[in-house]
Amino acid sequence: MAYSLSHQELISIAGEFGTPVYVYHAEKIKEQYEKLVAAFEGCNTRFFYASKALTNINIVRYIDSIGCSIDCSSINEVRIALEAGVAKENILYTSNGIDFSEIEAAAGYGVHINIDSLPNLEKFGKKYGHGYPVGIRLRPNIMAGGNLKISTGHDKSKFGIPVQQLEAIKKIVAEHRIFIRTLHLHTGSDISDADVFVKGFEVLFDLIPSFPELEVIDLGGGFKVPYVPGEKAIDLRVLARKVKQSFDDHQLAGNKSLQIWFEPGKFLVSECGYLITKVNVIKDNSDQVFAGVNSGLNHLIRPMMYDAFHYIENISNPGGPLKRYNVTGYICETDNFATDRSLPEIREGDLLVLYNAGAYGFEMASNYNSRYRPAEVMVREGRARLIRKADSFDDLLRNQVLLP
Ligand code: LLP
Repeated sequence: MAYSLSHQELISIAGEFGTPVYVYHAEKIKEQYEKLVAAFEGCNTRFFYASKALTNINIVRYIDSIGCSIDCSSINEVRIALEAGVAKENILYTSNGIDFSEIEAAAGYGVHINIDSLPNLEKFGKKYGHGYPVGIRLRPNIMAGGNLKISTGHDKSKFGIPVQQLEAIKKIVAEHRIFIRTLHLHTGSDISDADVFVKGFEVLFDLIPSFPELEVIDLGGGFKVPYVPGEKAIDLRVLARKVKQSFDDHQLAGNKSLQIWFEPGKFLVSECGYLITKVNVIKDNSDQVFAGVNSGLNHLIRPMMYDAFHYIENISNPGGPLKRYNVTGYICETDNFATDRSLPEIREGDLLVLYNAGAYGFEMASNYNSRYRPAEVMVREGRARLIRKADSFDDLLRNQVLLP
């Protein structure tokens, strides 16, 4: 794990902006993007940042500025990308379970679209015929990903059109002469095994001859990053080599050169993010010691939602004697950030930092218990700047309608 902001920098940001606060280090995102580009050098590859991981408009704009395209999972993410100044050619909308009107809206913006159901494909064909090149999201029936909640390509998953419905897809495509430019799949998140992508690829290869106008194979996101010390990220060079090999092993009709798209979310923004919290209270219950911080599952739901591990440091007392703690939040239900974790002695007022907080951290935050969502700060070229204010009491009431 390579975190790039020092304790001193984090302490100074906490002093300037208060806590809890999310901090993102822009250059770390660039470093991750450059790893992708370097690993796939020589392959005809394009990367779309899965912006659902972190949609702050400044982050989306920064990622666009380093040459990475943007993947969206809702029409509002498309709007955020457009608002950030991303060109429509560099925006992809991978839909799932949506009303056709959202696809029409996306088509109105002229972005790339992946369609994930037969009914929407049919409606799309009726409305756009051959005029709007489009992608189909398929379900490859492959089990992958860190846990079932984030596994999306298996044979019970709601995502995509099952590959066994190929004949139905072909019928709709033929009837409306739909221009199928892309075949897409996404099997899950936290994938460490490069072979998963190869397997996905193999499934798609069998389908390629059915779509003569095909230009793109989109293999989705899911590249694993380390969360637990000692854990390894997916080996990109192995992945790139295997993907290239699969391509070379398959003869494509007419010697066609397909482009490969990926949609990394965590890989780009997980490690750039830090959640800095302050210890409110120490409860020594003799058998367990609780360090209660001024945050909770309302700010970072991953530990409670996925049993996810987030590395924690006590940046106020890094050299203190190690003791065992349950680090908990202030939400009125069980919200452990860490259970029985060995940490340098924690005192009231200490700053605890949760690492890997960039992806699906703020993005999944809520106002549960009528707590405020925290501020977000971006560090770029050594300068820390506020990119979202913390909520205020007015925000909690903003859309409520008080009846007379
Ligand atoms: N493409 C599609 C179609 C996706 O559904 C996703 C994630 C991605 C790309 C990006 O996956 P990534 O590279 O970030 O693994 N909230 C969960 C993760 C949910 C992922 C949803 N889809 C978590 O915090 O672990």
